[in-house]
Amino acid sequence: MNWFISTLGSSIGKKLMMAVTGLGFVGFLTVHLIGNLTLYGGQGLFTSYVGHLHALGPLITVAELGLLSFAVIHIVIGTLLFYQNLMARPVRYKVKKNAGGRTIGSATQPYTGFIILAFVILHLLDFHFAEHTNETLFRLVFTTLASPLYMIIYVVAMIVVAVHVSHGFWSLFQTLGANHPKYMPIIQNLGIAVSIVFGVGFGFIPIFIFL
Ligand code: HEM
Repeated sequence: MNWFISTLGSSIGKKLMMAVTGLGFVGFLTVHLIGNLTLYGGQGLFTSYVGHLHALGPLITVAELGLLSFAVIHIVIGTLLFYQNLMARPVRYKVKKNAGGRTIGSATQPYTGFIILAFVILHLLDFHFAEHTNETLFRLVFTTLASPLYMIIYVVAMIVVAVHVSHGFWSLFQTLGANHPKYMPIIQNLGIAVSIVFGVGFGFIPIFIFL
């Protein structure tokens, strides 16, 4: 047990928890995107999807609690790592060079993370906690995203999610030990592909609804 706690407290332990929870979010986003694609099929298809999902009953509650604990771990440890990095380099560099291997995704990782947190809070208030039934959820999504302001917020948030995933995907596999010169370029390209699928897949929904 002591070993377990000290591993989690160590910097590799923290990175491992970021990786495992990050992988969980990639899984969630994949399922969420597939489900959301039913919005293109109209009210009948979307309502039937939501009905099937909610019919899972206690399983959904377990999944939601799992997601919530993953979110708490990812946010707390991510914030801690961000703070530790700031403290380790109290004097800011005058010139920020794009040193080898640094990408927009890696340089902005904590900031995109905080923006996603703000988006998810707004998103849950919009759709999860707003009063609705399985039958009225479709109308709720359409009336919300028909507003130009919400459409823009959602599209920008989806770009931010894509940027966060573009680095997170690669980074989590590196932490999990896939740090092999043969596989890393494949994983990097896969990370870019996954982030484009998330960005375009989620981002086009509000544009489609708005139009
Ligand atoms: C255009 C894009 C999106 C649309 C239209 C959409 C739609 C929805 C809807 C309708 C729900 C409510 C489901 C219900 O209460 O039965 C929901 C829940 C949720 N969404 Fe999204 N979503 C989008 C993107 C995202 C993204 C990018 C994230 C994460 C970064 C996200 C995270 C969540 C979470 C955490 C829940 C709560 C899940 C649960 O507790 O069951 N969504 N979304």
